[in-house]
Amino acid sequence: MNCLQSWPEPIVRVQSLSDSGIHVLPDRYIRHPSDRPSFTSISTHANIPVIDLHSLLAARDAGLRQATLDRISGACREWGFFQVVNHGVRPELMKSIRQLWRDFFHLPLEAKQVYANSPTTYEGYGSRLGVEKGAKLDWSDYFFLNYLPESVRDENKWPTTPESCRELVNEYSKAVVKLCGILMKILSVNLGLEEDYLQNAFGGDDIGACLRVNYYPKCPQPDLTLGISPHSDPGGMTILLPDDDVSGLQVRKGEHWVTVEPIPDALIVNLGDQIQVISNAIYKSVEHRVIVNSIKERVSLAYFYNPRGDLLIEPAKKLVSKDRPASYSAMTFDQYRLFIRKSGLWGKSQVESLKCSQ
Ligand code: OGA
Ligand code: NI
Repeated sequence: MNCLQSWPEPIVRVQSLSDSGIHVLPDRYIRHPSDRPSFTSISTHANIPVIDLHSLLAARDAGLRQATLDRISGACREWGFFQVVNHGVRPELMKSIRQLWRDFFHLPLEAKQVYANSPTTYEGYGSRLGVEKGAKLDWSDYFFLNYLPESVRDENKWPTTPESCRELVNEYSKAVVKLCGILMKILSVNLGLEEDYLQNAFGGDDIGACLRVNYYPKCPQPDLTLGISPHSDPGGMTILLPDDDVSGLQVRKGEHWVTVEPIPDALIVNLGDQIQVISNAIYKSVEHRVIVNSIKERVSLAYFYNPRGDLLIEPAKKLVSKDRPASYSAMTFDQYRLFIRKSGLWGKSQVESLKCSQ
């Protein structure tokens, strides 16, 4: 039996709940007190590094280039998260695609329901991850679509309204995939691997790329719930285009949650579990979550750059030694993703479960 064919309960759109004007959250969205936003202390004094890619993409100054590589290396080791500016994705394109998706979520419910998704592929308009009956739910709706490999791209599943949707998604995807290719080289070199190592380990030209647009409606009791549960991203690398106006993303730093304050025209980069595995845990895919608020809705676009599904992902031989034995056993991304699609997001439990017991 394929337990991923349908949702275990009728889907409730979080946006409908928010629009209905309720003052009290339904039980399904209320977290255990220890999981609520205010339980763990919030650190306001730290922020994830902001890195200017100009010296890598345009300038010819070798010293500056090395300094930028070093800053990225530090950010990958210490945070697993950083913001980039001068990254080559046009700010006007970022603005238009974010507005486009905001407009999509503002369409009447019936127009969006046409794209309602199922847990088989998750493509389309969704409101939950995981099929566990009775699970706690996140305060968000989303739209999920595949861009690469081309064999799984199905533009018929992408919205036709707003009118420019398909065209803009293609243009934005191309720009983000290009940026990811550049970052993969930088990370490889920083790890002491050949420049193409990570890209090849991911399948060369056959990598996966998919977009999840998150919509976080206003919430009447934001202290009791979360927009997205704590998780690390299962794939390779994520490029997040945050809301230009509302913060909400929090990154774990030890016992604290650090709120990311987006800066204008920046993109947020974070490493996923597959890079943690290939780097033999030199780089970490860091846990993050999203908090919501009662005043403003929030829209974000998370672009996931992933290995081809059927390749075994394992620590790079060069990063395994007597002193640093392989921390993970090999697994394909397809196997890994299936696990997450069944069980939903559970902090770092997936990548931890791959750990070799030694
Ligand atoms: C995600 C995610 C963060 C955000 O979609 O995996 O972590 O700020 N999103 O929406
Ligand atoms: Ni994430």
